[in-house]
Amino acid sequence: MWLFNRKGPSGFSFSNTAEDVTHGIDGTGLTAIVTVVLVLRLHVRVLAMRGVHVVMGVRNMAAGKDVKETILKENSSAKVDAMELDLSSMASVRKFASEFKSLDLPLNMLINNAGVMACPFMLSHDNTQMQFATNHLGHFLLTDLLSETMKSTARKSSIEGRIVNVSSEVHRFAYKEGIRFDKINDQSEYNQLWAYGQSKLANILQANELTRRFKEGGVQITANSLHPGIINTNILRHHSLIGGLSFTLGKHAVKNVQQGDQQRAMSRYIQMSKA
Ligand SMILES: NC(=O)c1ccc[n+]([C@@H]2O[C@H](COP(=O)([O-])OP(=O)(O)OC[C@H]3O[C@@H](n4cnc5c(N)ncnc54)[C@H](OP(=O)(O)O)[C@@H]3O)[C@@H](O)[C@H]2O)c1
Ligand SMILES: *[C@@H]1O[C@H](CO)[C@@H](O)[C@H](O)[C@H]1NC(C)=O
Ligand SMILES: *[C@@H]1O[C@H](CO)[C@@H](O)[C@H](O)[C@H]1NC(C)=O
Repeated sequence: MWLFNRKGPSGFSFSNTAEDVTHGIDGTGLTAIVTVVLVLRLHVRVLAMRGVHVVMGVRNMAAGKDVKETILKENSSAKVDAMELDLSSMASVRKFASEFKSLDLPLNMLINNAGVMACPFMLSHDNTQMQFATNHLGHFLLTDLLSETMKSTARKSSIEGRIVNVSSEVHRFAYKEGIRFDKINDQSEYNQLWAYGQSKLANILQANELTRRFKEGGVQITANSLHPGIINTNILRHHSLIGGLSFTLGKHAVKNVQQGDQQRAMSRYIQMSKA
């Protein structure tokens, strides 16, 4: 336990929440897009509390409205919006991006979090294997379509932009050859878990490459993939809102490991992949 309660160089330990970590930070004037899921509800709330305008990209608009109402009940001046986004459809991603652009808002953070996990073989709207389509291609296109807005925000505001991909430790369990570029849609050798790992590995490689290109082009945007351990320590140094977010997400994961839940999670994945 001591290991996880020990304070890091930032002065925070694993038991701190996003609220603790972002205490005193004013996010007024910042805008974030979150492709939202359950785990992140909490973080949408914390971002909104710190004054950030949060735009949630959700497939299920009823759930999105629900999160929005809950937050507004607590703070009627919070800026939260829900907009429809189905990451498994390129058309939906394009529609979301153009609707967002028509709002003429800045964009400081993009949190790519939604995902499908170890689903049976199926094809997306665009006939691509579902996990690769949702977890990787959808977010890839979204990031690409919004990157000009992010670049111009970073330029005008002199605030470094952030792209965070919620990846997974499971990226280690991809296919033997990593990403099977020529077999993405091959059903005969499809493995639900490995296909999930493959999509998450793609996220990480993508983030690394984009960060390299941003650096090369002198663009003030950092792309991070988040999975327990590595990003936490990286992000702790920044003390930013996004650091707080990632920190708490990481905390969940570490807690799971702590509690021996990792085994259970793995067996869940494996059960799902056999189902
Ligand atoms: N939970 C873990 O143990 C774990 C571990 C490591 C990494 N992760 C990663 O953490 C992230 C969140 O996972 P979670 O456990 O919170 O997942 P979750 O509860 O299963 O939620 C998945 C979310 O993604 C959304 N989604 C799925 N397909 C979508 C699509 N085509 N378009 C838009 N949204 C879509 C779902 O929307 P609906 O509500 O409409 O279904 C749901 O909100 C994922 O990227 C996951 O890979 C999770
Ligand atoms: C309420 O929301 C506003 C606008 O986002 C924010 O500036 C303020 O700090 C929030 N107040 C509380 C108590 O969370
Ligand atoms: C991950 O981040 C990069 C930006 O670094 C983005 O281009 C990419 O599409 C993101 N998402 C996925 C799911 O790969």
